[in-house]
Amino acid sequence: MAARPRAVRIVGPGKTPIRVQINAKPYTATVEPCVTLLDAMRELWGLTGAKRVCDRATCGACTVLVDGRREYACGLLAIDVQDSLITTIESLGADGSLDPVQQAFLANDAMQCGFCTPGFVMSCKGFLLESPHPTPDDILKGMSGNLCRCGTYAGIQKAVAAAAAEKRSRRRGKTGRPRRGK
Ligand code: FES
Ligand code: FES
Repeated sequence: MAARPRAVRIVGPGKTPIRVQINAKPYTATVEPCVTLLDAMRELWGLTGAKRVCDRATCGACTVLVDGRREYACGLLAIDVQDSLITTIESLGADGSLDPVQQAFLANDAMQCGFCTPGFVMSCKGFLLESPHPTPDDILKGMSGNLCRCGTYAGIQKAVAAAAAEKRSRRRGKTGRPRRGK
């Protein structure tokens, strides 16, 4: 006997209520299903740290973490991320002290106009979760989804390497012993 198709909840094309968890806080709105996560964050919820540059998932200015993975917020529908945990640049340094990645960008002069910087910082956070011990080549490849029109790539590469080293040193500090292979 053929399996019965599972019931699918159809929404749209009109507005529908949504609830998205961002930086451990719930955000709600009633939106058309075509509204992107980036538009909902910036236009409805006052979260303007993720920048809109290309608005077509190519430059990385809008990078956020979705369940710990790097994603372009302009390439996601807000309605599709309701079951995920979103982390944005606004979550960093919330206690008044800079996150180590932000600190590394400052220390390595990794910005000029700074418009791409929130996206690079969030991309770096996600990259170091994927690749805690990156080589220079890993950094080049791993950060290639973000573009900087001011061309501060040399500083950014140094900043990512410095953030990785700092993260490892903090981890060693916590355990009190070097990690295997380091
Ligand atoms: S604005 Fe989203 S990738 Fe460029
Ligand atoms: S610092 Fe200006 S676009 Fe990157």
